[in-house]
Amino acid sequence: MLVLGIESSCDETAAAVLADGRRILSNVVASQDAIHAPYGGVVPELASRRHLEAIVGVVEKALADAAVRLGDLDGIAVTQGPGLVGSLLVGCSFAKSLAYVAGVPLVGVNHLEGHIYAAFLTDDPPVHPFLALVVSGGHTALYHARAPRKYALVGETRDDAAGEAFDKVAKLLGLGFPGGPVIERVARSGDPVAIAFPLAQMTDQASDFSFSGIKTSVSYHVKRHAPLAEREVADVAASFQAAVVKMLVRRTVKAALRLGVKRVVLTGGVAANGPLRAALAAEAADHGLTLHIPPPWLCTDNAAMITAAGTVRLAAGERAPLSMNALADLPLAG
Ligand code: KG4
Ligand code: ZN
Repeated sequence: MLVLGIESSCDETAAAVLADGRRILSNVVASQDAIHAPYGGVVPELASRRHLEAIVGVVEKALADAAVRLGDLDGIAVTQGPGLVGSLLVGCSFAKSLAYVAGVPLVGVNHLEGHIYAAFLTDDPPVHPFLALVVSGGHTALYHARAPRKYALVGETRDDAAGEAFDKVAKLLGLGFPGGPVIERVARSGDPVAIAFPLAQMTDQASDFSFSGIKTSVSYHVKRHAPLAEREVADVAASFQAAVVKMLVRRTVKAALRLGVKRVVLTGGVAANGPLRAALAAEAADHGLTLHIPPPWLCTDNAAMITAAGTVRLAAGERAPLSMNALADLPLAG
């Protein structure tokens, strides 16, 4: 089964062709980082405009790299949401036109399910049921993946997404955008126990996350000690990263034990973070949990993951009508 997938939910214009939802024949990602960097965050208007400019070339390249013609496709998958509505609309409209012209079925994919399916593109795919921690720039949530296409929401952030916290703290420290990779790099020369940034406690035992308290503490610390020397910036970056990692790892392992699941998937842009990968691997091993983490290039936004999730839905007979609409808040599970 040959499927073309298109992703445009945020600031990456991406297209991929997969065989049988597993074999990546092509995977093209056009990043807009340079466009948004001067603003320290994604500017929605600029993002949708850039998607419009890039999408034809990106899809053509994905087809050419895979040596596949439109007529060879068995289906097209596109990110329907969640994401920036103007950005999503570019991908959805383009995918609908292509599906109509090529006369092939179309399916809408939830971006978060896409992130989870990145784990199925490795040599060691997870087996259902499993717990998935999706940590990205827009979302931080735990899903119980009971069976293919069946998800239950276990916990989510009550304020910022983890990636958003990385981006905001990087901005505070004057480190640039996107914040995750640059904080990880700067933190390497810092001391992760230099500053104890407090973790929010959940009084109701929920498997939820909270990052705004950590972010506010960083902001106070930076104001109190301004101007920060290079060494101090590294210590703040390392201590902030350690606090975020601790929050993510603790809540995830606790939820896995409470639910009695044996397998955990870590995915989404923030899952590219080395210390997070290492810390969750260590905790998972200590508790007898099997951990699946896609390689970093599959953790950040890409279309291969969307195509993998879409192939499962197409194979199950799901079809999106040409009236399908982009949904900025599309939920994966209630
Ligand atoms: O999944 P993604 O590519 O896009 C969304 O769906 O949001 O995630 C982007 C987020 C950004 O906030 C970025 O700072 C963060 O992932 N990120 C990282 C790393 N690489 C990307 N955060 C921490 N460490 C990284 N190495
Ligand atoms: Zn994403």
